[in-house]
Amino acid sequence: MTAAILGTGSYLPKKVLTNQDLEKMVDTSDEWITTRSGIKERRIVSERESWSSLATEAAKKALEMAQIEPEELDLIIAGTFTPDLRLPSGACLVQNNLKAYNAAAFDLAAACTGFIYGLTVAEKFIKDNPNIKALVIGAEVLSPITNWEDRTTCVLFGDGAGAAVVGKGEKKEKGILASYIGSDPTVWDLLCVPGGGSLHPLFKKGVPKEEYFIKMKGNEVFKYAVRYMEEVARIVLEKAGYSPKDIDWFIPHQANIRIINMVAKKLGIPQEKVFVNIEKYGNTSAATVPIALDEAVRVGFIKPGNLILLDAFGGGFTYGAILLRW
Ligand code: ACO
Repeated sequence: MTAAILGTGSYLPKKVLTNQDLEKMVDTSDEWITTRSGIKERRIVSERESWSSLATEAAKKALEMAQIEPEELDLIIAGTFTPDLRLPSGACLVQNNLKAYNAAAFDLAAACTGFIYGLTVAEKFIKDNPNIKALVIGAEVLSPITNWEDRTTCVLFGDGAGAAVVGKGEKKEKGILASYIGSDPTVWDLLCVPGGGSLHPLFKKGVPKEEYFIKMKGNEVFKYAVRYMEEVARIVLEKAGYSPKDIDWFIPHQANIRIINMVAKKLGIPQEKVFVNIEKYGNTSAATVPIALDEAVRVGFIKPGNLILLDAFGGGFTYGAILLRW
């Protein structure tokens, strides 16, 4: 028995922030951002939108594709570190919006790897009880914790949401074939938000305002991202008895086009099998993989029987990969 993705959905805020807009805000250029990251524009929430509104819209689309009613859900897992509130969880707010009152709901904090962590947890529940239907969300609203005066980070991030409904696969050979999650916390401070937690709560005296935003030593993080994304991809391929040449679609975390290209090259996966949409949305953390997966499904790139590799890396550091048969 396998756990399979029964439906996908995504939702992006309408407001677009282009590289040209950023040129007016910080000392940067479209040329620098494009060549260093591959990003041309990103989406930013409006006053009327929130983490839970984006996540709810993505969830509704995934439920519609899966032809599952909200009350049939047993489990809602939201990969995020930017829910609406400190308490309750974002997953509970989505549950309320959907009226999915029969589910257990919780958030899972694994930064950019949140969706893959969530999918891995859901897989275990379904293997334990094949009747379980789970909604796994990867959503992030990074704009409020982005330092719009720091050119080294503000050009990279965006807001967005993706989701997948997961349940028992129709056939043994359809669904998740292998999953693996891991973390390396030894260099956690290369990518963090120091303030706003219980250690440095909001309004604590003496904490500079920059501490409440994402801080990242980008060039250091880059090396770890390439290393762990390759490593974890090889682990799941080996677990399932496949090699990189068997993959039909590689859907990596969209943090930087150079990271994506380097990982694909190291694995020997040709460019035409790599799904990339970073130019439109930037790095939406836990949302990049489910948004990319949903786009690849809806445009018809992913076909029944395809072998798909999902692969992510993020703050923590966390990393994870999933190999699945569509
Ligand atoms: N515009 C112009 N110049 C800039 C900008 C900018 N926006 N940002 C930095 N620079 C300058 C730097 O100041 C530096 O100048 P200097 O040489 O005079 O000191 C120069 O450009 C090079 O800076 P680097 O940081 O070395 O540039 P790099 O090629 O490494 O690219 C980047 C930076 C895009 C951040 C890259 O390192 C990266 O993508 N890192 C990984 C990000 C990632 O994967 N994060 C993990 C997931 S995110 C999450 O978990 C939430």
